[in-house]
Amino acid sequence: MRIGLAGVGLIGSFHAKTLRQLSAIDTLVIADANAERARQIAGEVGARAADRVDDLFREKLDGLVIAAATDAHPGLIVQAVEAGIPVFCEKPVAPTLGETLTVLEHVEKTRVPVQIGFQRRFDAGYIAAREAIQSGRLGWIHTLRACTLDEAPPPPSYVPTSGGIFRDCSIHDFDVLRWVTGRDVVSVYATGANRGDDYIRDAGDFDTAAVLLTFDDGTLAAVSASMYNTMGYDVRLEALGSKQSIAVGLDERTPLRSVEPEARFPAGSPYPGFIERFRKAYERELAVFLDVAARRIETPCSAADGLAAFLVAEACERSRREGRPVQMSEVQP
Ligand SMILES: NC(=O)c1ccc[n+]([C@@H]2O[C@H](COP(=O)([O-])OP(=O)(O)OC[C@H]3O[C@@H](n4cnc5c(N)ncnc54)[C@H](O)[C@@H]3O)[C@@H](O)[C@H]2O)c1
Repeated sequence: MRIGLAGVGLIGSFHAKTLRQLSAIDTLVIADANAERARQIAGEVGARAADRVDDLFREKLDGLVIAAATDAHPGLIVQAVEAGIPVFCEKPVAPTLGETLTVLEHVEKTRVPVQIGFQRRFDAGYIAAREAIQSGRLGWIHTLRACTLDEAPPPPSYVPTSGGIFRDCSIHDFDVLRWVTGRDVVSVYATGANRGDDYIRDAGDFDTAAVLLTFDDGTLAAVSASMYNTMGYDVRLEALGSKQSIAVGLDERTPLRSVEPEARFPAGSPYPGFIERFRKAYERELAVFLDVAARRIETPCSAADGLAAFLVAEACERSRREGRPVQMSEVQP
């Protein structure tokens, strides 16, 4: 297969290595707004570099992987689907609701497959949690608790184009909570705080956030996010049920220490970042994308799923701004 990769920053350069290891790909062409960066990563992984991002569209691609900065997603997705090229795009679909809706229009019109990069759907722990919740083994779920705690904030250049902490970070939790429960969110109550570096506040973003979600079956969920969990990258989900309770992401490497005198767990070295925590899930999602691109399977995570999670983030932003609970019906397009 001939696969293009647009954007080789932090996550894109990792995707480049993964794509290079997939035997179904015989040609990998890499482009970045920074052409020197594209040449460097292409050289490191043994791929070809395109001089300009636009050149990718002259390569007769079987699929395009988009890992560029978020504000570049909508234009690249639209250009690809209009050219009939299946797309894998990192989350979120776009930085704004308007652009997300435009992308969806083009995807629905062209019917070209699009997979959004919510890699937690490919993580063994989240897959097991989904099975446990939906089988009824846990009884009814009284509480869900989800967190995404980054070990360090992104660089100043990342923050203004990310869409903000709810759309950029908590969106992973919103997607996976919908996916593991099979339910939709009906209302949100969100707040944010800035206790870290000024450049995050100056960009209009928050370094820490807390959200309460209510699902359509009455289940309550608490979602928390921070950019300053210096001990390590901490992504967990607890599903607490009337019969049983389970946790995802609670293992020897969880960056958390018990202060109980007898406790010895977790004792391992904390996950330093998202690549170490989700390496296998990132590898699986791209292997699956090749089947999506070859039209052997339906996309496991559609642009419509991307919109659904984005709308929860959109409601959070409004809730935080207006200091009140927001019904999902208020943000439905
Ligand atoms: N799924 C995940 O867990 C996960 C993790 C990290 C980042 N992401 C997402 O991946 C995307 C990239 O994040 P990152 O941390 O790698 O950012 P980054 O800032 O490290 O890299 C972004 C790269 O995109 C390039 N770029 C900008 N505009 C471009 C364009 N129009 N065409 C081609 N390249 C362009 C930049 O030159 C840079 O090399 C973001 O959308 C982010 O939300 C997802």
